[in-house]
Amino acid sequence: MEGLHAGQRGVLRRPRLARRRRQARCHRQGSRRRRGAAPAGARGALSRPQRVPPTVRLPDFPWDALVPYAERAAAHPDGIVDLSVGTPVDPTPEVVRAALAAAADAPGYPTTLGTAALREAAVRWLARRAGAPDLDPGAIIPTIGSKELVAWLPTLLGLGPGDAVVFPELAYPTYDIGARLAGADPVASDSATALGPRRVGLVWVNSPANPHGRVLPAAHLAKVVDWARERGAVVASDECYLELGWEERPVSVLDPAVNGGSLDGLLAVHSLSKRSNLAGYRAGFVAGDPALVRQVLEVRKHAGLMVPAPVQAAMTAALDDDAHVDQQRVRYARRRDVLRAALADAGFRIDHSAAGLYLWATRDQPCWDTVGWLADRGILAAPGAFYGAAGAGHVRVALTATDERIDAAVKRLTA
Ligand SMILES: Cc1ncc(COP(=O)(O)O)c(C=O)c1O
Repeated sequence: MEGLHAGQRGVLRRPRLARRRRQARCHRQGSRRRRGAAPAGARGALSRPQRVPPTVRLPDFPWDALVPYAERAAAHPDGIVDLSVGTPVDPTPEVVRAALAAAADAPGYPTTLGTAALREAAVRWLARRAGAPDLDPGAIIPTIGSKELVAWLPTLLGLGPGDAVVFPELAYPTYDIGARLAGADPVASDSATALGPRRVGLVWVNSPANPHGRVLPAAHLAKVVDWARERGAVVASDECYLELGWEERPVSVLDPAVNGGSLDGLLAVHSLSKRSNLAGYRAGFVAGDPALVRQVLEVRKHAGLMVPAPVQAAMTAALDDDAHVDQQRVRYARRRDVLRAALADAGFRIDHSAAGLYLWATRDQPCWDTVGWLADRGILAAPGAFYGAAGAGHVRVALTATDERIDAAVKRLTA
């Protein structure tokens, strides 16, 4: 536990606390049940206490609301242009596929920690592309894509009831889900002062951001890090769009310009889904404070959260190759340019969108009206309200469609 602040040691000790709270809750539920009427089929006082499945506390899956608009867009005579999701459509690079195939013979279990080759490739990549020199390969672990880590990080850190998990007001929805899965308190807030004296266990930052593509400058990130360190909170930085800066250069929380040369209390979450067209492989990693990474590793070992060996080999090849990323950037840059111009032509304003895979667009009307307007032209976009109330006037337009489909959208927008 060396090198941890008192509050962070608290975070590491909290699994026991969380367990105790859960046990207390179960006992409470049990005694409530004994006081109430016995449910049908219950066998008197020996019946198990009823537990509320975690899904009860999860929000409805919002994408279902988009289905009627997808049907409307699909009715276009030239077919739908689906720009509602950020799923890559270009081929997985040959160098990565070859590495996957070469590692196909994998009779034994992979390690949760990941191969040394993968962790060293990640160290090289972080030094080259994330401004993070001399990272310890022992403080990096592969993850099954980054979404699972986002969803389980509060649990892996032992956070629970009474711990706030803070994330941006407009954000990727899984930060909220992760807090709920842990039984912690999800708090969407862009203002540290608005949080008051509550106990904060984890602060998420996401730059470049989904959905709006804003890039947080190093000085802003440094302030968040200082604030969190003073309160003993962990900062997790979701950096899955780091190599997709267009008008601004994204900065990693692992950059000494942000962290002052110390990784205390910091985790950077990375994904190969977007940079390497690897979403189907489920390939990500987490790097940062060695003590926090060790704790996350210990729980992941017990939970069987390990990345398949052939995927680890593919990730190693992908991280050592920048050429395919540069090539992919050229594809996205062109799509972004033509789509941006066509949206402006059709009366949209584009806000933020300095980096990442989306254009954050508005016609200064409710987002569902804009989704409908686009659907009538055979184009499907995501309503900004999916990402928080502050998104109610915007739509998120993804750059992840083929050149042919993007050109079809441009034609429809400029007709
Ligand atoms: C901000 C953000 N974080 C994490 C993810 C998850 O990516 P993956 O699980 O493919 O690594 C996404 C996916 O779109 C995202 O937008």
